[in-house]
Amino acid sequence: MTKAIYNSIQEEIQALKKKRNAVILAHNYQMGDVQDIADFTGDSLRLAQEAKKTDADVIVFCGVHFMAETASILCPDRKVLVPDLAAGCSLADMVRPEDIRKWKSEHANGVVVCYINTSAAVKAECDYCCTSSNAVKVVRAIPEDKEVLFVPDFFLGTYVKNVTGRDNIELWRGYCPTHMLIQSLEIEKLRKSHPGAEFLMHPECGCLTKSMHLADKIMSTEGMVRYVNESSAHEFIVATETGILHRMQKDNPDKTFIPASPQSVCQYMKMNDLEKLVATLENLQYEVKVPEELAKRAYRPIERMLELA
Ligand code: 13P
Repeated sequence: MTKAIYNSIQEEIQALKKKRNAVILAHNYQMGDVQDIADFTGDSLRLAQEAKKTDADVIVFCGVHFMAETASILCPDRKVLVPDLAAGCSLADMVRPEDIRKWKSEHANGVVVCYINTSAAVKAECDYCCTSSNAVKVVRAIPEDKEVLFVPDFFLGTYVKNVTGRDNIELWRGYCPTHMLIQSLEIEKLRKSHPGAEFLMHPECGCLTKSMHLADKIMSTEGMVRYVNESSAHEFIVATETGILHRMQKDNPDKTFIPASPQSVCQYMKMNDLEKLVATLENLQYEVKVPEELAKRAYRPIERMLELA
């Protein structure tokens, strides 16, 4: 795209945004130009919080489907739109509501904590929701004598189990295929070839089980962005989806960011682009609306999380 076309699309989006009284929320894994036009870029928690407090009539969610569903649950009176309805989440697809019902029936004393990367139908079956930035806090809020059923991300669950020291946590065996690509062998090589670099790991990483001890910090995407801005280090190995490097590099032009796995690109996150964003605002398409009954049930675990956060 030439600079002139880019500028004119940007202007068009700004004008449409005003006309529709819309806010654009973008996840840290979005393409750089989508992040740049957004009103807020952040992790799952920050975006849920921004959706909850917005007074815009229209929320355009540049992320994946479960994130737009969360915004719809939190803001039932707003129109929530996504640039591409096909932008889903493989991890969220790894568990169904009937799986949760069965799991609960097998663990009478169990409290179900679901990662925000789940469908609204799954959330409706759960007791607490969490994101990568508050999973430890949420689990710590659950009485010790209760068994915790953590769903669906095995690696985040393993991390929580490790930090809290609780052994009464049952883990679902789901995983994010993009984070699964980040493996220990690569990390060990990178740590050797960049001895001065700080190593930041997202808790969904496939290398977590073997290489947790190698990480300087294990954090959510927003935690990482904040951390690199404040750290005095000049070089960072970043173990998560590569879209995050855009913001890091933009905010810190003098620092060096090395992706732990350059192949860790989420095809779903990259489905949104500026042209689709124009169509979204122009035609008020595609709406994500969680039906009222379901939204009411799915609201409870999210609300509990937001209260704790
Ligand atoms: P956070 O942005 O909350 O860290 O989670 C990222 C995510 O959704 C990974 O799949």
